Amino acid sequence: MPISFDEKTRCFSLACGDFSYVIRLAAGRWPLHAHWGAPVRRVHDDLLSRLSPYTDETFSLNELPLDRLPQECPVYGTADYREGMLGVRHADGTAALDLQMEGCRTYAGRPELPGLPCAGGEGAETLELTLKDALSGLRVLLNYTLYADCGILARSARIQNDGTAVETITRALSCCVDFEGSGFRFLTLSGSWARERDITLRPLAPGQQGTASLRGSSSHQGSPFMAFLSPDASETQGEVYGMALCYSGNYLASADVDQDGNTRAMLGIHPEGFSWRLSPGESFCTPEAYLCYAPDGLAGMSRRFHRFIRSRITRGPWANAPRPILINNWEGTYFGFDEEKLLSIAAAAKETGVDLFVLDDGWFGRRNDDHSSLGDWTDDLIKLPHGLSGLSDRIHALGMKFGLWVEPEMISPDSDLCRAHPDWCVHAGAYPRTESRFQLVLDLTRGEVRDAVVESICAALTRGRVDYVKWDMNRDITQAGSAALPPERMGEFFHRYMLGLYDILSRVTARFPDVLFESCAGGGGRYDLGMMCYMPQAWTSDNTDAWERCRIQYSTSLLFPPCCMGAHVSAVPNHQTGRITPFETRAAVAMSGTYGYELDPARLAPEELRLMRSLNERVRAWQDVLLYGDFLRLLSPFEGTDCAFMSVSPDRRRAVFTCVFALARPNRKPGLLRLRGLDPALNYRLEDGRVFGGDELLSRGLPLSPVSGDFGSLQFFLTAEPPLQA
Ligand code: GLA
Repeated sequence: MPISFDEKTRCFSLACGDFSYVIRLAAGRWPLHAHWGAPVRRVHDDLLSRLSPYTDETFSLNELPLDRLPQECPVYGTADYREGMLGVRHADGTAALDLQMEGCRTYAGRPELPGLPCAGGEGAETLELTLKDALSGLRVLLNYTLYADCGILARSARIQNDGTAVETITRALSCCVDFEGSGFRFLTLSGSWARERDITLRPLAPGQQGTASLRGSSSHQGSPFMAFLSPDASETQGEVYGMALCYSGNYLASADVDQDGNTRAMLGIHPEGFSWRLSPGESFCTPEAYLCYAPDGLAGMSRRFHRFIRSRITRGPWANAPRPILINNWEGTYFGFDEEKLLSIAAAAKETGVDLFVLDDGWFGRRNDDHSSLGDWTDDLIKLPHGLSGLSDRIHALGMKFGLWVEPEMISPDSDLCRAHPDWCVHAGAYPRTESRFQLVLDLTRGEVRDAVVESICAALTRGRVDYVKWDMNRDITQAGSAALPPERMGEFFHRYMLGLYDILSRVTARFPDVLFESCAGGGGRYDLGMMCYMPQAWTSDNTDAWERCRIQYSTSLLFPPCCMGAHVSAVPNHQTGRITPFETRAAVAMSGTYGYELDPARLAPEELRLMRSLNERVRAWQDVLLYGDFLRLLSPFEGTDCAFMSVSPDRRRAVFTCVFALARPNRKPGLLRLRGLDPALNYRLEDGRVFGGDELLSRGLPLSPVSGDFGSLQFFLTAEPPLQA
């Protein structure tokens, strides 16, 4: 039974092959956290009473030492002095709540979360616990959705005002897990523009720690994701508890180690500045948080998340299909292009086997630099005398697909749109409007603004007969506020912005169901599960340097599979670092994502163009393994000097191994690196003709001959032999 209730122990249990999650009712009324981890058939009474000896129905809330109990839905203002998962302010200004179990049900599928992105619910099962605060009439529905096929548990909450007075929600996180003990190492991702998602691993310490965003996006600086690692956990072994949020705005991922050395982990919308007015009859839903228990190290966590993302987060015809090899003109031309230049880039790329030409920023309004025109999605007829439509015709006539960059959420003060609607930007009354990259953010909380965005963007995509869209977002939100929200609702601004964005994304993607969408936010500034529900790939970083990308893609792969990661070969010296890396290394790194180029082929040598052609053929032949195989991390660039990873097909008959070396060292002995994921019973042929036993590759390793020059790489394509007969 995946979801069950044991009358004797008063425990709900959610179980699948990978884990159990157990909730115990204290005094029949308060849901306490009893277990999350390796599957257990039942939790013994003695174990339960250690946590919560309060089984007697006569206990009342004011007798429970809530401060020391592991809870499923804690609120501050009771005898629990820690930060809680939920908070409200009643009409009289007080904040106390007495949430008691009212009922429960299980059902097939997942809860409705109106306006929010969430995982596909087919085959899932949900346990819903209803808690009620009798005095105010507020109900809280705690949702636990079991995705047994992926080893993932989703949590969310719905707060319903079934009382008679207006209530204000001041805190609405998606989940709380009260772990017993604090002997974990805490993993979060942190960074900055062009340095996204550095792995940060530290021991938990008493008090609060975590990662958060208050920028209006999930941000370059952090990720709505955290993991707790047992002391012995590593890439391949030990217990790992991963938690990720399906949301693209302000978030909080926190761990609070209390007086007893227990750890409260919470994930959800950041409470700072947040409030939500709930009139009688209204309800509020939190985004979904996904919980993954892995007994087999970080690799086990990633394997489960990758499978989950591929099967339940990314959707549409492109989700599991081969992706086009693209060329994007941004680093090739920046704003300095005209139709002839674009066509020459496209034609040269087509010669090498590229499928898709993407026209980046600068095609609209009078946008010759980043000072103007966002919001004016009309063709620049000086650069493109035949308009988008004429360019698209010519690109299609080359036998290529046509892609377009847009930044729909933005407005330049120097734009016709801003001159016509000066109050359409996000602003706080008469306070100065901080510009970033000379632009402001459109107020997506307003219906008329959303309609105008949808119409102007859809018109451009239609006019250009566009096959691919790069949806960019290049600044954070400051002076948050909307001219259309009443004062008592201004605390809703950030979340309403996200709901507005999700509304636009669902409308635009529904209008163009066959178009491939890639999200972007100054690179990886909004790289989260929420965006991935609408767009199956995302530009991983504006940093295209191959060595830097090893780090960024390595850490991104903790949560996301290669099919989500936009990765391009760019020119050298690299535009972000000035570093020179071999073409082969740049390609090998880009191959572990959705492959493309970001350069001007006119500046390549003939042998580089020939190399491009053979690389494109190789990508096409191996893309199924590279994008949709199991991605395994072998050497961490965060721990040593080199980086290695491999992709293995589901039947384990094909694999791609890649190793990138940092600085060359003289007189190096050939290395030996153990591979993973292969079938020990099979023999594998490398493209150079050598044949190794799967068993020896797994137990002895693959010999790595030294490469000369800095940032050299080795890439091997392994095929089991004899090959299967067609
Ligand atoms: C952002 C993107 C880049 C490029 C520029 C265009 O920085 O991340 O890839 O599209 O905008 O202005």
